[in-house]
Amino acid sequence: MRIGLFSLLLAAFSVLILPAFADEGSGRSFVLWSGSASAGSCTTVQCHAILGKAKYVHNPVAERDCLACHATTEQSHPGPDSMQLLEEEPGLCLQCHENPAAGMKHPHSAVEAGCTGCHSPHQGGLPDFLLQSGGKLCLMCHADMVAGKHVHGPVFADNCGICHGIHGSDNESMLNLPGNKLCFACHVGIKGIIDNAVSQHEPVANGQCWDCHEPHASDYKPYLKAYYPREFYVPFEEENFALCFNCHDKNAFLYERTSEATEFRNRDANLHFFHVNRSDKGRVCKGCHGVHGADQEKLLMSRVAGFGRWGIPLNWVKTEKATTCYVGCHRPKSYSQEELIDNL
Ligand code: HEC
Ligand code: HEC
Ligand code: HEC
Ligand code: HEC
Ligand code: HEC
Ligand code: HEC
Ligand code: HEC
Ligand code: HEC
Ligand code: HEC
Repeated sequence: MRIGLFSLLLAAFSVLILPAFADEGSGRSFVLWSGSASAGSCTTVQCHAILGKAKYVHNPVAERDCLACHATTEQSHPGPDSMQLLEEEPGLCLQCHENPAAGMKHPHSAVEAGCTGCHSPHQGGLPDFLLQSGGKLCLMCHADMVAGKHVHGPVFADNCGICHGIHGSDNESMLNLPGNKLCFACHVGIKGIIDNAVSQHEPVANGQCWDCHEPHASDYKPYLKAYYPREFYVPFEEENFALCFNCHDKNAFLYERTSEATEFRNRDANLHFFHVNRSDKGRVCKGCHGVHGADQEKLLMSRVAGFGRWGIPLNWVKTEKATTCYVGCHRPKSYSQEELIDNL
């Protein structure tokens, strides 16, 4: 009975509003609020008055073509469940738009789920009817990305798009450039160190900068995944080298004597332990190693920074019998893994 009446009403209105509203191709029609005498528009003074009045208005809305996206139901409008979307997202938008992530190897999940997570379907104060500008848009869903005491420059500048494709990209994590190329685009100095290095650090050369660095924010300078001392001397604590010990055996630093944990030993006298594991002035790894690459083997640097403008010379010479360090810190000393060399 109700359905019958409804259909009747619908038929009557359809005829009434046909010239202005019906989409003849699809036969879509719109049931008006029964209190409304006129079939003028969905955007009257009383109804949906703000639609069409913004700096940026979506074309079908500007055209008052509400039925491009909305459809009536069998309930009279206005009223609960009286309107529905013609289709679910993103299909709704893809009626008229190309999928902006089409063909991309790594489409943004947010785009696969729809478009209105970021775009208003109607209008707004920002170009493309975006709900927020710059990185604020992204932080609506990814607020955890800026968690950390220190925020990386481009992230701080709210510019997620300088590293990420918005709708997606062909690279992992939707990055604009693959792998370390992304970071080299701005950090040419580090690229220089790596290109000119005699020994390369495997995670730097074949891995990714973010094996050690947080691209967004971190509690540890310079945006490291774990603590690493800024100082040249620190009392030895395991936690001080958490970053390195993520991948390297800490035993090379814990025992005064070892016959296997490291090659930096005079037979079983552990020279890593000797230099690093001290309760007062333990040397940090960068006292000898260049973490991104170095001009001698074993990531050893020939000049060690840390004393103002003077780079301490470090010359590491390996022969079949022994290895000798010619350094600015002490007179030359040799070691061998096979037999104890007496340096006295
Ligand atoms: C391009 C597609 C599209 C067009 C054209 C469109 N709408 Fe919408 N509208 C939507 C979508 C999608 C939603 C649901 C939004 C949501 O869930 O966030 C919506 C929601 C609404 C709502 C619910 C309240 C709100 O704002 O979320 C109203 C009212 C509305 N539209 C009215 C209109 C009117 C009136 C027109 C014509 C002037 C119109 N719409 C044109 C897509 C459209
Ligand atoms: C009935 C067709 C139609 C539908 C459905 C539609 N749009 Fe549009 N949209 C247009 C037209 C036409 C333009 C203007 C295109 C131009 O100027 O090149 C436009 C422009 C835009 C723009 C501005 C960027 C541009 O290309 O100018 C965005 C963003 C946009 N639409 C998003 C959406 C979203 C999100 C949806 C789904 C909620 C949607 N559209 C559904 C027709 C449609
Ligand atoms: C994660 C947020 C987000 C989602 C989800 C999203 N967009 Fe966008 N879209 C943007 C941003 C940001 C821009 C502005 C890009 C720019 O300035 O380079 C944009 C721009 C556009 C444009 C303008 C043309 C262009 O590429 O610059 C169109 C059209 C568009 N989006 C359509 C869509 C459609 C259709 C969907 C759903 C299938 C969608 N967007 C989903 C964020 C999003
Ligand atoms: C409406 C919510 C929403 C918004 C807004 C949004 N995203 Fe996403 N994003 C998601 C979801 C959901 C995923 C998939 C689950 C996850 O990784 O958190 C995702 C995943 C990602 C990923 C990981 C992709 C991968 O392949 O691992 C990146 C990168 C990303 N988003 C960047 C952005 C950027 C940049 C913006 C701003 C332009 C943005 N997101 C805005 C919801 C959103
Ligand atoms: C300097 C370049 C850069 C900037 C700027 C940047 N990202 Fe990323 N983002 C990356 C890299 C690199 C990865 C991959 C990290 C990984 O795999 O551990 C990533 C991964 C992500 C992921 C997915 C992985 C995860 O950790 O959950 C999301 C989501 C994300 N970024 C969101 C954002 C948002 C939001 C912004 C802006 C506030 C932003 N990114 C700015 C480089 C950047
Ligand atoms: C768009 C340019 C840009 C890109 C791309 C970029 N950075 Fe940066 N980065 C900066 C700027 C600007 C600073 C200086 C401001 C600051 O300290 O955050 C910086 C600072 C840093 C620092 C601290 C430097 C110091 O001397 O303390 C590290 C570490 C770093 N970036 C790592 C990375 C890594 C890893 C990537 C790739 C995931 C990357 N950056 C990509 C612009 C960029
Ligand atoms: C094995 C871990 C590791 C990897 C991988 C790594 N870094 Fe670093 N990075 C560090 C450490 C540790 C520091 C702090 C160095 C110090 O205090 O001497 C640092 C410092 C930096 C700095 C600050 C300036 C400087 O020279 O001290 C920048 C910029 C930087 N890294 C960029 C990069 C880029 C770009 C990549 C990828 C090509 C990368 N890093 C890969 C561990 C790493
Ligand atoms: C993401 C894992 C990872 C992290 C973090 C890491 N390394 Fe490495 N490192 C490697 C790998 C892999 C190699 C090559 C295999 C090996 O020698 O164990 C290597 C090799 C080395 C070498 C020997 C180089 C050679 O030519 O034999 C030194 C020295 C070194 N790392 C120092 C460090 C220091 C110092 C840190 C902390 C700042 C650190 N590493 C953090 C993975 C890592
Ligand atoms: C006093 C200088 C010095 C300091 C400080 C130092 N190393 Fe080394 N390291 C060396 C020398 C020399 C070698 C080469 C040993 C050989 O092959 O003869 C080496 C070798 C290594 C190797 C290659 C594997 C091995 O043990 O032989 C790793 C990994 C390493 N160091 C990590 C570290 C880490 C991590 C730190 C800081 C916790 C550190 N080093 C501190 C001098 C140093």
